[in-house]
Amino acid sequence: MKIAIIGSTGQLGTDLVKALSAKHDVIGLTHQDLEVTDYNSCLVLKKDRPDIIVNTAAFHKTDQCEDEPLRAFSVNAVGARNIATVSTEIKATAIFISTDYVFDGSKKEPYTEEDAPNPLNTYGISKLAGELFTKQSPKHYVLRVSSLFGVAGASGKGGNFVETMITRAKKNESLSVVNDTWMTPTYTKDAARVMQEIIEKRLPFGVYHASNQGPCTWFQFAQEIMRLARLNPTLKPIETSQQQTKARRPTFSALRSTKLPTYGIQTREWKEALADYLLEKGHLNRTSLA
Ligand SMILES: NC(=O)c1ccc[n+]([C@@H]2O[C@H](COP(=O)([O-])OP(=O)(O)OC[C@H]3O[C@@H](n4cnc5c(N)ncnc54)[C@H](OP(=O)(O)O)[C@@H]3O)[C@@H](O)[C@H]2O)c1
Repeated sequence: MKIAIIGSTGQLGTDLVKALSAKHDVIGLTHQDLEVTDYNSCLVLKKDRPDIIVNTAAFHKTDQCEDEPLRAFSVNAVGARNIATVSTEIKATAIFISTDYVFDGSKKEPYTEEDAPNPLNTYGISKLAGELFTKQSPKHYVLRVSSLFGVAGASGKGGNFVETMITRAKKNESLSVVNDTWMTPTYTKDAARVMQEIIEKRLPFGVYHASNQGPCTWFQFAQEIMRLARLNPTLKPIETSQQQTKARRPTFSALRSTKLPTYGIQTREWKEALADYLLEKGHLNRTSLA
């Protein structure tokens, strides 16, 4: 299959290119190659006529989205609409990457594909709008992921949580991390594999949750990073209310898929994925894991 990946040098985009290139003709599109907010720029896709268009582009600095709602909607919603329109025109499948932040957190247990979204912040609202626009394309997948970490680091966020924690621990900074906000850390390599399986097994179009397994708090995530990387900083659990942030965030946004296992697609526990990531990044070696 011919697969175009928008945001190909981003954190998830990098692993998608790696995962899909082995078996498919992958066209990587950077921000310089294509601007999702500009329909005319998206027409470049008509030249290559891919079978599948994966849109990883996003404005995903959650707090900044509150200050710049027009930009959030332009990239996350209008961008998705432009890609859905072009996909429809060339009869391609549109794949949109969405987020756990479409949920409000009131469920207090992992959200499945059947749960109703109710985003609390501008980022989540704009991504939900992006989902709805994507669904206008007759052939579409919406893949929701959460708290991504990948070797490339998020270009839109300037890295990822794992690297931030390790860098700060190595500088002997004491770390205060929220212990009452739950999510599912997700390795982009694993999310890319899930997408590959969805595409290759030709799953029915629709929404899928593509996170790793198991909820944890950001503090528990940080603890495991330090344990595996054998770092010993002062690590303090704090409450979300002790942090002033512009955007409201769901206090529980872990994801779980009820659909993927029925097609034989399983993801591993986040701790296992984290160990693999740390190995790949060179933060630990195989003997220290044994
Ligand atoms: N990171 C997370 O924790 C997280 C959690 C849940 C969901 N998600 C979703 O997962 C997706 C991938 O996230 P990521 O961490 O891989 O992000 P990322 O590293 O910031 O990658 C996004 C890519 O899209 C490009 N891009 C940004 N704006 C664009 C535009 N207007 N037109 C075309 N390309 C544009 C970026 O290029 P430049 O950097 O050159 O602008 C970058 O290559 C996003 O849709 C995000 O909403 C992320």
